[in-house]
Amino acid sequence: MKIGSVDLASPFAVAPMAGMTDTAFRRLVKRHGGCGLVVTEMVSAEGLVRGIDRTLEYAEYTEEERPVSIQIFGGDPDKMAAAAQIVEGMGADIVDVNMGCPVPKIAKHNAGCSLMREPAHAATVIAAMAKAVKIPVTVKMRAGWNDDERNAPVLARMVEDAGAAAVAVHGRTAAQSYSGSADWEIVARVADALTIPVFGSGDCIEPEQVIARMRAGIEGVLVGRGVLRNPWILAQARDIAAGLPPRVVTMADRGQFLLDYIELLRNERVRDGESRILSRPESQVLNPDLRPDPSHDRWIVNKLRALGSWYTKGIDNGSHLRTAINSAISLPALIEIIEGFFMATPV
Ligand SMILES: Cc1cc2nc3c(=O)[nH]c(=O)nc-3n(C[C@H](O)[C@H](O)[C@H](O)COP(=O)(O)O)c2cc1C
Repeated sequence: MKIGSVDLASPFAVAPMAGMTDTAFRRLVKRHGGCGLVVTEMVSAEGLVRGIDRTLEYAEYTEEERPVSIQIFGGDPDKMAAAAQIVEGMGADIVDVNMGCPVPKIAKHNAGCSLMREPAHAATVIAAMAKAVKIPVTVKMRAGWNDDERNAPVLARMVEDAGAAAVAVHGRTAAQSYSGSADWEIVARVADALTIPVFGSGDCIEPEQVIARMRAGIEGVLVGRGVLRNPWILAQARDIAAGLPPRVVTMADRGQFLLDYIELLRNERVRDGESRILSRPESQVLNPDLRPDPSHDRWIVNKLRALGSWYTKGIDNGSHLRTAINSAISLPALIEIIEGFFMATPV
């Protein structure tokens, strides 16, 4: 399938997840297969335009993640157009607009899910961006603002007319945040109403659920928390789609994933003159004084704690592992915990 001129080898994608889906994590998921698209954590249009270091870090990606979509948030059409140009200049394949984030810090600035309350303004933002760049502009929205305003089908039509190349719908309202369950009927209604590709998002934990959601009209599925629990879910979905049994993931595989993640993070945010990060513009090379960061190990431990809160769900003794990860006092101690839990040979 295609989004604009961008080819996707698989209809299954890693959903954007702030604080979770960094470049290292996305790379590993991609290596395990079945992943047709990765979307970065959302980054601020304002921060991109101002060249803020932290914002640029959130937008970093590597060549092996392609095709890559960088998701931005903001509400001002001119600023969003300028940010889209920066994203294009960073070499991203797609620029995605967040119209679903319910976090007040974002929503109160006329960005994220607030754009769903002002469809005409949201369409103006997309039109400005589509005019400013050649790469596809896509939109990720929710089912609506609240139960009385489930306007995804209307808004989706408007952003399509304004030049969006694809739309993704998380089937919950902003008011729901993450409670209740995703409404895939509304995703199907959006797909019926549009000619551009429509992706659905919400509550796919098992690979079979990903396949079940690929109903007529829906072109692809963005998997969020399911990937954090099981980074093989997209590969397993593709196995099923190919008529094969889903691949078996052993405890040792699961442990190795965490060790590989640590290894990638170890090489990240360090100044080695040969950074594998490709997206940062030459003019925005990080301040050498900042690297290597003395608290780098702590940063990695915190990253593993964040992933651990999802990764340990659904496995035997997962809560025990979660507690152990959260109390690890150093990176070597954390590695020992992971090896002991996943790789210890049963006697
Ligand atoms: C920790 C976390 C962070 C998220 N961050 C973003 C984000 O930055 N941008 C966005 O569009 N959606 C974000 N989402 C929503 C997901 O992309 C996804 O649509 C939602 O979680 C439903 O899918 P799931 O049930 O497969 O997780 C986030 C979700 C979670 C759990």
